[in-house]
Amino acid sequence: MKIDSNETLIFGAGGQVGNRLRGLLPNAVALDRDQVDFTQLETISEVLEEYKPKIVINAAAYTAVDLAEKEPEIAHLVNAEAPGRISEWCCANKAIFVHYSTDYVFPGKGMEGSVENTAPGPINEYGKSKLEGEKLVVKHFYKQGLDKGRFFIFRTSWVYDSLGKNFLLTMLKLGAEKETLNIVSDQIGAPTYAKDIAEKTIAAVTRAMDKDPFPSGVYHFCQAGETSWFLFAEEIFTLARDKGFDIKVKTVNPIRTEEYPAPAKRPMNSRMDCSKLETRLDLKFRNWKVALNECIEDLYTRYHTS
Ligand SMILES: NC(=O)c1ccc[n+]([C@@H]2O[C@H](COP(=O)([O-])OP(=O)(O)OC[C@H]3O[C@@H](n4cnc5c(N)ncnc54)[C@H](OP(=O)(O)O)[C@@H]3O)[C@@H](O)[C@H]2O)c1
Repeated sequence: MKIDSNETLIFGAGGQVGNRLRGLLPNAVALDRDQVDFTQLETISEVLEEYKPKIVINAAAYTAVDLAEKEPEIAHLVNAEAPGRISEWCCANKAIFVHYSTDYVFPGKGMEGSVENTAPGPINEYGKSKLEGEKLVVKHFYKQGLDKGRFFIFRTSWVYDSLGKNFLLTMLKLGAEKETLNIVSDQIGAPTYAKDIAEKTIAAVTRAMDKDPFPSGVYHFCQAGETSWFLFAEEIFTLARDKGFDIKVKTVNPIRTEEYPAPAKRPMNSRMDCSKLETRLDLKFRNWKVALNECIEDLYTRYHTS
């Protein structure tokens, strides 16, 4: 069965992933913060009652990791209470609920990729709020019984796109302005293109509606391969130069996390093992370098052919 865009509601349609979902599901109800503010929890059920979707995809989140240290209550409302409310409504109305979470639910110790049941232990307020959100979603669905609806929590990492606030666009801006940059080289993870997240989400939901559906639960959901922020930056500059971007930067220095103080602590190891999802859906994420190349090419075409 194909996902019916008429029966789908997307929260967070103005964000990186939400915007991609909106593009792939043109008939879906696509709402951004102006239409539903998650800090006003009552508006969530009002809007769900109005549209009565069969599938709800929540791409809205408080993603300002450093600011969350100052505003943990707002992060909690948006990242925990709001998905909790959505899951209550989905359970009561037998709707499929797709929600996104993050590698930041883990403490980031060791060198291996975490699996879905690796013990969480967030080290910053953003990660705590996202873990609380996961727990509320799981709790509501298990309390109501999984026959009442289905949920999928996709944990992704280091998201970027050709719009929004992300590391790729920051590097392209800094790379065009500065000759020397210092970039953290001891945090390891998988940069993930929002376009791939949206496409795989639709593949997963389509599969969930098949006769042989795949089970509700938490799934790791990121691009294949791994890198550091430093090597990610180097790859961005190499690809951008190749495509014809004006990149001034001559030297990129690897630095340690301690040399780049930030309000929120970051996990050192953000690797996630996606084999559970890949096996159940027979679906593979592309390598991060392949996806990055495509995104930079799209960016170049957009800005240099208009
Ligand atoms: N970005 C990453 O690196 C990353 C990494 C791991 C996991 N994730 C997860 O992946 C999912 C998608 O992330 P993304 O990168 O697409 O995020 P994003 O680009 O920051 O988009 C988040 C969206 O949520 C909206 N939002 C923020 N506060 C809101 C509120 N109070 N009420 C309603 N909407 C609100 C934002 O609106 P405004 O534009 O008006 O602020 C924005 O449209 C999220 O669950 C995130 O936690 C992201």
